[in-house]
Formats: sequence, structure tokens, C-alpha cells
Amino acid sequence: MEKERFFKGLRAVFNPSSVAVVGASEKPAKLGFHVMKSLTRGGYEGAIIPINPSSTEVMGIKAYPSLTEYPGTPDMAIIVVPAAHVASVLAECGKKSVKGVVLITAGFKEIDDPSGALLQKEVALLADSLSIPVIGPNTFGIVNLHARLNASFTPEFSLVRAGGVTLVSQSGGISHLLGFLAMKQGIGMAKIIGLGNRLNVDFADLLPFLAEDEETGAIALYIEGLDNPRPLLEEAKKLLGRKPVIAYKSGAGTRGDAASRSHTGSLAGRGEIYDGALHQACIVTVKSPQALLDAARVLASCPGLKMNTVAILTGQAGPGMAASDVCETEGMKIAVFSTQTQEKINALLPPLAMRTNPVDMGPAWYDARAIEGIVRAALDDEAVGGALILMMFASANRDVLPRIKDFFLEWKQKKPVITCFSAPEGIWDEDIRILEEAGAIVNFPTPERAASAMSVLGRYKTLTLMPFWGTTKDENHSHPSQPLG
Ligand code: COA
Repeated sequence: MEKERFFKGLRAVFNPSSVAVVGASEKPAKLGFHVMKSLTRGGYEGAIIPINPSSTEVMGIKAYPSLTEYPGTPDMAIIVVPAAHVASVLAECGKKSVKGVVLITAGFKEIDDPSGALLQKEVALLADSLSIPVIGPNTFGIVNLHARLNASFTPEFSLVRAGGVTLVSQSGGISHLLGFLAMKQGIGMAKIIGLGNRLNVDFADLLPFLAEDEETGAIALYIEGLDNPRPLLEEAKKLLGRKPVIAYKSGAGTRGDAASRSHTGSLAGRGEIYDGALHQACIVTVKSPQALLDAARVLASCPGLKMNTVAILTGQAGPGMAASDVCETEGMKIAVFSTQTQEKINALLPPLAMRTNPVDMGPAWYDARAIEGIVRAALDDEAVGGALILMMFASANRDVLPRIKDFFLEWKQKKPVITCFSAPEGIWDEDIRILEEAGAIVNFPTPERAASAMSVLGRYKTLTLMPFWGTTKDENHSHPSQPLG
């Protein structure tokens, strides 16, 4: 399919001026009902056109018996009718010049019966001949949080905060898991995309599109199996220095491999081979769905590290040790402070404290002025790439975070600032929210997740310096300077 037409189709899928729902229904037992609910309740402001052969109205919106009987041209169509009707509906999309399609229907390549794969092939040929990009089949849909477009059968996706993480997933279940985790953890997402069986839109096709998408700060891929990994690897390489790509690949075990074949019709393949190939394509790999979200979040929200060195500044010794262990295991170096920095820190802490990095700010744990001074000194040090700041609440340090907030707001991550400010619900939540929304910190609930996130920045930095991509110049490889939260 011609690239410009394909991109135009994808733009229509993610930012449509109007959406037809073929198979829209008033009955809660039908997925077409839930798709209509997602669109109408999610705040989408374009025209919604329900298509149903036996209803004149769905959810108070005028319905049409078929696409051809609708007098206008819908920008995109969501298809949620049984598999046997999909080809004829797609042909109607062609007649109506619909630019892009989300095909929710299952019953294609993923089923045991070979007729499913045959049907998928037939529908793919048709879609290609009509130059219509089709997301799916066998997908929950797509969500564009910035456009308030929820083109899925899960209305609750609209509750995710708009932000910089775009998830491209081969699994509806993982997309739901990560969408809900993002919701609970206040992580901002740009797009949630269920690839399903990848009729004619695959990972590789979406990467160049997302590279140009201003709302996407980092691209998280959930991969089960790929029929042909090469295009993805080549497209990912092209994104190096433009937009970070992170992948979690499941199915490393033999059971997972078999499950992948029946889930999406693709073989999972050997985990270690994938790992190596993804690494060479400059994709940061992680080992769990939560780690995928954490990594994408931090890469979308922090500036790039100039060097892989970290200052660990901790209000209590234990969390600092936990963070330090993770940093060292995951390849971050603990920064060695300059003499000047060390002197400034020494002046703020009594000699009994651990004053070299990691700095145990314990003896000053309820002295906001001292803590601000230590944090400032460490961040100003040229030997420090980024800072991990860990502070557990206790009644006596309640005021510390509110009092050092202005410093973080003013400093605004000239270098990455990843924190674990932990308190019972309702105590520091508002301060953390303000700081995160201003792009001043990225906060994690545990020191090890904060440390792991810092290490992801380090691993991305290392990828950008891999000699075989022909350059080692830092300035060519800083990821987005405008964090997207
Ligand atoms: N044009 C417009 N509407 C049509 C139509 C057509 N050609 N053919 C059927 N419809 C309407 C039906 O009238 C019905 O609405 P109504 O009951 O209000 O009248 C609605 O579309 C659905 O058709 P129906 O035959 O009842 O199918 P269904 O709802 O039982 O199943 C799917 C349709 C798509 C949901 C089902 O085939 C399917 O694929 N389910 C699995 C989806 C899935 O799991 N995806 C992956 C998730 S990760």
C-alpha cells in the first residue's frame, strides 16, 4: 500500500472527524453496545454513525441500515459484526471511501480451523486493494487519549490520564492490564493500540507513524510472536535518538510459545534470540508488563542521561541500599562526587552519617533546608547523570516534601530526577501529583522500581552509544527534550 495513503488512513483511525460503528447495538450483551458506550461516554467530539440493519436509532443517535445508506463519508469505521460479514462490510467501506478501519471481530487466523486463516488472507487482500489500513482483526480496538477517542469495547479506558506513553500490544488482556495499572498509578498514556492478528497493520507499520506523533514520547511494545521480525527491527533502529522503543516479549518458555500460536496465530520463538535481536535494533527490553509501563513512563517523562552515573540520596539508609543494589545490578554507576560537592554535603550532615554516595540523609531527615542543600549540591555536580531521591514519611518529616517542592519545580529535571516519596494515602499525594504534572520528578512506589527506571535511562543511553550505528556523539542521541509525562 502506498505510504502516504497508509499514513492518511492511520491518521483517520487515530484522529477521525467521524466514526461509523458497523454492528452498533442497544443490547448490553453485544460488543457493539460497548463500543458505542466507549465512543459516546469517552468525550469524543466528532460525529458517531451507528450502523445496524434493524435499528433506526442507537443510544439516541440516528442509525443507518448499512454504510452505503449513510449519505456522508465516515472518516473511519469500527467493525463489530460476525466474521462471515466482514468482507462485505469492508467492501462497503471501500465504496464509501472510509480511510481506516478498526476490526474487532474474532474468528480469523487465531482459530484452529484453517478456514480462519483463509478468511484473514481474503480480507487482507481486499483491504490492501482498497488501500485501507485495518487494525485487527481479533482486537479490543484502539484509544487515543489526547483526542478523547475510545474506539474499543472498554469504556473505562477513557479514564486513563492523557500523557506520553503509547502502548502497541499483541494482547487485549495485557492492554487492559496496563491501561488499568496506568489509571491507578496516574501514568499518562497517549495511545493504546491492540494489534490483534495484524491484517495489514503490524508493529513495523506503526513505528514510523508513531515517530511522527507529537503526543507519543515513548513507544511500549508487548510482543508475543512475529512472523517476520526484520521490518520491526529495521524500523526501530531508525527511531534511535528520535523516540525510545521498549519491548516486553512473552512466551520465553515452551508453553508460552504454544499459547502465542493459538492466541494471535504467530509463533513466539526463542526468548534469547528475540532479546539479542531487539537489543541490536536499539529496543530496550524488559521482563514484565509492569516493567514495560515503568520503562516507557520514565523514557517519556525524563530528559536523556548525559552519563550513566547516579546520585542516590536517601532519607533512610535501607531504601538507599535497596536502590543501590538494583542500580549496580542493572548497569548504573554510582557517581563519585567532586571534592566541592562532597564538602557541601559534609557541611550539611554530621560525620556519623554516610556522606559519600549513596548519601544517607538520615541525620537530617526532618530538616528540609539540609535536604534541599544536599539534593542541589548533588544535582549540580557534573559527575552526576541523574538523581534517585528516596524519602519515607514519618510524622516529623511531613513538611519536608512540601518545603522542598519549589526547588524541584524550579530545577525541573535539567537532569533526570526519579523519586520514591512514600507516605500513607493522602499525605504527600498532592505534592507528588503537582511535581509529576509539572515534569519535575517521576515518582515510584518502591525504591527498587525507581532504581530500575533510572537504569532503563542508562540502558537507553548505552544503546545510543553502540558503535555499530556509526556515531558516539551524545547530542545526536538524546531522547525527546520535551518530556511528555
Ligand atoms: N451491518 C451492520 N450491522 C450488522 C451486520 C451488518 N452487516 N450484521 C450484523 N449486524 C448487527 C446485528 O444486528 C447485531 O446488532 P443487534 O443485535 O442490536 O441487532 C450486531 O451487529 C452484532 O451482530 P450479531 O450477529 O448479534 O453478532 P455478535 O454480537 O453476537 O458477535 C462479534 C459479533 C464481532 C462481537 C463476534 O463475532 C466476535 O468476534 N466476538 C469476539 C470479539 C473479540 O473477542 N475480539 C478480540 C478481543 S481482544
